[in-house]
Amino acid sequence: MEEPKAKPLARSSTPSAQELVHRDGRPVPPVFELESPRFLGDEDIPFARYTSQDFFDEEMGRMWTRTWQWACREEHIADPGDYYVYEIGPHSVLIVRDANGEIRAYVNACLHRGTKFRSGGSDGAFSEIRCPFHGWTWELDGSLKRVPYAWDAPHVNARDFALPQVAVGLWGGFVFINLDEDPPPLSEYLAPIPEHLENFDLSKRFVELHIEKELDCNWKAAIEAFIENYHTQETHPQLLYGSDDEGTQYDVFTDHVSRFFCAFGVSSPSIDPQPTEQELVDMMLVGDRSVLGDAVKVKPGETARIVMARVLRQTLGEKYATDLGRYTDTEMIDVSQYGLFPNMVLFPQLSLPMVYRFRPIGENPNRTLFELLILRPAPDQGRPPPPARPHRLKERDSFTTVPGFDTNLGEVYDQDTGNLRAQQEGFRASRKHGATLLNYQEVRIRHLHQTLDDYLQQ
Ligand SMILES: [Fe+2]
Repeated sequence: MEEPKAKPLARSSTPSAQELVHRDGRPVPPVFELESPRFLGDEDIPFARYTSQDFFDEEMGRMWTRTWQWACREEHIADPGDYYVYEIGPHSVLIVRDANGEIRAYVNACLHRGTKFRSGGSDGAFSEIRCPFHGWTWELDGSLKRVPYAWDAPHVNARDFALPQVAVGLWGGFVFINLDEDPPPLSEYLAPIPEHLENFDLSKRFVELHIEKELDCNWKAAIEAFIENYHTQETHPQLLYGSDDEGTQYDVFTDHVSRFFCAFGVSSPSIDPQPTEQELVDMMLVGDRSVLGDAVKVKPGETARIVMARVLRQTLGEKYATDLGRYTDTEMIDVSQYGLFPNMVLFPQLSLPMVYRFRPIGENPNRTLFELLILRPAPDQGRPPPPARPHRLKERDSFTTVPGFDTNLGEVYDQDTGNLRAQQEGFRASRKHGATLLNYQEVRIRHLHQTLDDYLQQ
C-alpha cells in the first residue's frame, strides 16, 4: 500500500481507550496495549465507488475472486458428507467434509452441463455429489464416480473429470475459501489476528444465533457503518452511558487487518452529569439484578468495570458451562473489533462475542446481505449445540423481531441499518464528488478502499 507523507494525527483530549482500560490497575494483555495509528491521506472517497456497476464488476473480477473469505464454521459441516454452499456474486462453492473428515471445496457446477449441485445458501448431508439433472456423480473426494449410460461418453474419463477444487483454509473454527488458483497462505493473510486472539480460542465456540439482514446499500457502505465508533453520538445516544466513544482507538496493522478498541463500563465524556459507578453497573447489567443481588454492588475501591467483568465471568461461565477464569477484565467486557479484508468483522470478547459478514446480493452494487452471528463459548465437557439456523430479515424488518436476540441490541442494529438506504440514495443525489472522512476515527474506511485499490490495480 502506498502511504502518503505522514501528518501528525490529532487525538482527542478526552481519556484514551488505553487510559480507561488501565485505570483500574487490572492486567491488560499486551496485544491490547498495542497501538498502530496511521494517517492514510485525506482525499474524498468518490461516491461512484458505491454506485457504479462497472466499478462493482471490477471488484468482482479482481478482488472477490482473489481474497480469503470466511464461508462457514467447521461445525456447519461437522460430519463426513455434510456440505455447505457459499456464494459471492456469480461464484458458488460447495464445501464438503469428505469420508476421511477432511474439508474440501469444489466449484459448485456439474462438469456435464453446468447445473449447480446444490443451491446457494443451502446446507445438508449427502453420501456422494450427484447432479440433480442427469445424475452425473462424484465421490466426496471429488473423483468421478458414475456417468449414466457411459457407453455414450467414451471421451469422459476419471482423470479429466475430477471436480475442480477451490482453495480452503481453516482458522479458529472458521472455514475460509479463496477462488484464486494460487492464493497466499491463509496464515499470512490473517496475521496478526491468530496471534492476537490466541487466548480466546475461537474454535471452541458455537453459533448461538445467526441473523441475515438484507440492506439497500453497497456492501462497502454497510461495513463502513460498523467499523467506526464516531456515529455513536448521533445514531446511538443511549450507548454513551456505558461505553466510551471519543477515546476509541483505531489501529491499522496490515493491508488486510484493522481494529478498533473501545472501553466499556465507562461513559462517554460527552455525558453531563457523568453517571456514578453504581449507576453504570445498574444500566449495563439491567435484568440480572434479581438473581445477582449483592454481586452487582460496587464496593469501596471498585469500579463499574471491575464489577461487570466479575459478574459476567460468573454468570456467562455458569450459563455456558465453561470456566472463564483465564480472561482479563478487558477480554470480558471491552470491544476489540477486528476487521479482515474484505468482509469479515470479528468481536472476540466474551460479553458480546460476534462475527459479521457482508456480501453483495447477487451482482447488484445497491444490495447487501449483512450477517450477524453470536459465537458463545462451547461447554468444557461434551458436544456443543448445533449451529443456529439463519433468521432472515428483509430490508424493512426490525432486528427486535428476531427470537432470542436482545431487544435493546435489536434497537441498536435498527439504528445502524436505518441510515443505509438514505446514504445509498444520497450517493446518487449528491452534487459533491465523494465522502470526506475524519483522519483518525474513520481511517479504517480509507484503509478498506486503499486495500481494495491494491487489488483492482494488480
Ligand atoms: Fe452502530
